[in-house]
Amino acid sequence: MTKITAAITAINGYVPPDLLTNKDLELLVDTSDEWITTRTGIKERHILKGAGLATSDMAVEAVNGLLKKRGISAEEIDLIIVATVTPDMVFPSTACILADKIGAKNAFAYDLMAACSGFLFSLQTGATFIEAGKYKKVLVVGGDKMSSIIDYTDRNTCIIFGDGCGAVLLEPNTEGLGIIDSVLKSDGNGRHFLHQKAGGSLKPPTHETIDAKEHFVFQDGKSVFKFAVTNMADVSAQIMERNNLTADDISWLVPHQANLRIIDATAERMGLSKEKVMINIDRYGNTTNGTLPLCLWEWESKLKKGDNLVLAAFGGGFTWGAIYLKWAYDTPAEK
Ligand code: UT7
Repeated sequence: MTKITAAITAINGYVPPDLLTNKDLELLVDTSDEWITTRTGIKERHILKGAGLATSDMAVEAVNGLLKKRGISAEEIDLIIVATVTPDMVFPSTACILADKIGAKNAFAYDLMAACSGFLFSLQTGATFIEAGKYKKVLVVGGDKMSSIIDYTDRNTCIIFGDGCGAVLLEPNTEGLGIIDSVLKSDGNGRHFLHQKAGGSLKPPTHETIDAKEHFVFQDGKSVFKFAVTNMADVSAQIMERNNLTADDISWLVPHQANLRIIDATAERMGLSKEKVMINIDRYGNTTNGTLPLCLWEWESKLKKGDNLVLAAFGGGFTWGAIYLKWAYDTPAEK
């Protein structure tokens, strides 16, 4: 029997129009464009503004564009997985809200939470449903409205994050293209270094938790950096080794965009030149679950059928991992 793999067959992204530049941040906290640029590589981020707009609204933009590109209707979708740390509500899931907004009446839908590795974990989860032969069209969405959980008086975190969302469609492939291998890891001891203290069952919202600003992202940046820089490079090297891939075999590294120094270290460990690394952190900052699909979306026209891609991420949990996939299509020339 021919082996079924899960291939990405369409991709789209959305970033909101409003910008927050390093210069804007200089007016909010004690920082400088120079510090942010040299320590992180970020110049500006996009911020979702407007009352009543949430993560699902960015997802609607990304997914509706994707469906149009692929020429299919929302009713053809079997499953929607949304990776996010900023769901519209604690429950129901943003995936259910998205399914309702786009009219995906025949899909079952749920969220997956793995912080910055959420898209990577969701991609493997979605792929497994396809490989099992049970479902034919799986939407994997990664997006966050990070501005909703950022304290814009905390220079440790507010310089890093931005808002954005990307989506991919997974479909069965019998040519050996699509997701080939994954290395996915977690270590809950890392929770001490990157978390949101209140709002969950441990500390339900109270006036005190609000006053203490415990609904915002807390990050011990230096500790997270140390773990991220070694672990993201380790899994990327591991996935190359066990698939007998040399640097020459790899067309693109698609790294989580948390810090340019982490991206550079990962590429160096893999022996990849900068030309093979997707980098848009300068324009988007860290969009958490949005980083990987936004990269794929922006680079889509450069990707060729058969290209070997390694996707890698590291995030809260800790969670981290790498996926090796073979790109499944050439982008049609624009009509
Ligand atoms: O996506 C999820 C995973 N997250 C990550 O991968 C993030 C990993 N961490 C990082 O990217 C980096 O640790 C940060 C960008 C968050 C911070 O960079 P760093 O080089 O680790 O800086 P630091 O926290 O060690 O701070 C160095 C100095 C400190 O001053 P002193 O103590 O040396 O006088 C900070 O107070 O820089 C100071 N500092 C700042 N200065 C200007 C910290 N933030 C700022 C700032 N502007 N925004």
